[in-house]
Amino acid sequence: MAVRRLAPAELQPKEFSFSKENLDWAKKEITKYPEGRQASAVIPLLWRAQEQAGGWVPEAAIEYVAKFLDLPNIRVLEIATFYTMFNLAPVGRFHVQLCGTTPCVLRGAEKLKDVCHHRIGEQFEVTADGNFSWVEVECLGACVNAPMAQINYDFFEDLTPESFNRVLDELAAGKNPKPGPQIDRQFSAPEGGATTLKSVKTKA
Ligand code: FES
Repeated sequence: MAVRRLAPAELQPKEFSFSKENLDWAKKEITKYPEGRQASAVIPLLWRAQEQAGGWVPEAAIEYVAKFLDLPNIRVLEIATFYTMFNLAPVGRFHVQLCGTTPCVLRGAEKLKDVCHHRIGEQFEVTADGNFSWVEVECLGACVNAPMAQINYDFFEDLTPESFNRVLDELAAGKNPKPGPQIDRQFSAPEGGATTLKSVKTKA
């Protein structure tokens, strides 16, 4: 897993504030929490800030959310730097979060990492066409279909270098590759179809 630092100063916008729509949403969001516990809305607010900023959380957005929730900046900074769902630097149109935890590694994640290095570059690098960036993350909870990667909001599972390359090719071509398992299985059911409960015997 890479060191998580804020993007260099030259990439940081000077200011950030919620759009009118997001401001209305944020005011409503904090009413979901008990009086005095509005700070608990920090993750959804940071997430909305990331979406508004184009896929990453600038330092100005961290400070804005801290002010909005009446928190010290460090409290929001430590959350933004801890969770890999928050990107601390600009990302590509398709941001690949590649799982590098043991079950995925045992099932071939290292080869997927080679694909990322070959096609995209170093972690957090954005390709010249602005299409791709990638980062290695810890378990994303789909170990049963390892190895896997999350690309934007979708999981792609049971990947091989070939199927991973195909998914990336399709995204680059403006297509919508099918998320989920990339082999012949439904969700996390056995490959090739059911192996148990195939016949039902009824008592005479
Ligand atoms: S180890 Fe990769 S999803 Fe859990």
